[in-house]
Amino acid sequence: MKEKVRELFGKVYGDTEGSSVYFAPGRVNLIGEHTDYNGGHVFPCALTIGTYAVVRLRDDDIIRLYSENFAGDGIVTTNIAECTSLRNPGWCSYPAGVMWTMTERGYSVKKGMDILYYGDIPPGAGLSSSASIEVLTGYMISDLFGYNIDKVDIALIGQYSENNYNGMNCGIMDQFASAMGKEDHAMFLDAATLEYEYAPIKLAGKKIVIMNTNKKHSLCDSEYNTRRRECEQALEMLNGRLNIKTLGELTIEEYESNKELITDSVCEKRARHAVYENSRTIEAVKALKANDIELFGKLMKESHISLRDDYEVSCRELDILMEETDKCDGVYGVRMTGGGFGGCCVSIIDEEKEKEIIEKVGKAYIDKVGYAADFYVVSIGDGVRKL
Ligand code: GLA
Repeated sequence: MKEKVRELFGKVYGDTEGSSVYFAPGRVNLIGEHTDYNGGHVFPCALTIGTYAVVRLRDDDIIRLYSENFAGDGIVTTNIAECTSLRNPGWCSYPAGVMWTMTERGYSVKKGMDILYYGDIPPGAGLSSSASIEVLTGYMISDLFGYNIDKVDIALIGQYSENNYNGMNCGIMDQFASAMGKEDHAMFLDAATLEYEYAPIKLAGKKIVIMNTNKKHSLCDSEYNTRRRECEQALEMLNGRLNIKTLGELTIEEYESNKELITDSVCEKRARHAVYENSRTIEAVKALKANDIELFGKLMKESHISLRDDYEVSCRELDILMEETDKCDGVYGVRMTGGGFGGCCVSIIDEEKEKEIIEKVGKAYIDKVGYAADFYVVSIGDGVRKL
């Protein structure tokens, strides 16, 4: 791929002289959904697909950006002073948000650049293509201008820019996974403290398969921000008696004995999901360490049901994928993954049954939904890097 993107750069900018190539991956979350901004735990892994950038420094202050995924937009030209307010075309607001955040923190762009982006994450799949562009841009600027920023800080810069430049109040999971990913490992991250641990994913005879509904998750941003607000309201009501900073601080027992403080039934359901999902995530990682894939899978299914019924971020297409997969022989666990309202399910299945499961679920999905789902076997890769 390195050669392919370099070649593209040559086609767009004339030649490849003096260019370098960077990569940041997308992610899939195995369990722990909508827990990160509630101060809970998540368990994502970085993928081997993601976003590439080819970049070359210039001698002036011109910044040119081009995305092969939005080739119709052509080359976008700006400069060092104006790159921090660039918003059009839409995709540019991701790199621009990162340049804005970095400039605010004293890591400004010091020279002009020609940049080509190319992503091989299916668009709208909820596999964190935007986080990968953010982490990629941050890392690239840090490396090019010798800022040597820690990768966790690169993730935080990405999250800050997404929250404050793009108006999506996401948690830290996606940017963290893209920055800190490790081949064949998932990351058990405490989103409240950013303490993390790598857990090897050695699933003998089993595979992780992502199932894409191919439904774009357009509602995602506004509904996401609403869920976040509802959790904050629940927290405020709980603090009528308790003194906690996040829902993630509560055990199930503590939640159950205080839940009557949440007088709004919607907020109560949201908080219930946040607390139970956090506890499931902790239990799931323990199960994985004990090689208890059956239990891990059972918790995945409970996670889906909670996201569907209590958090209400699933949709018909995700539910169909989950139910049809769950019916098959050789399936350990399956659940929606990511923000919801479309995007993907993630499953753990018997290697031997892979073909049969994909065929069966694929057919049932077309019959019920009217268009095809896509299936990808997951390879877990490293986080952001220069290639
Ligand atoms: C999106 C956000 C993450 C996380 C997930 C839900 O991917 O970017 O921070 O909240 O949704 O778990």
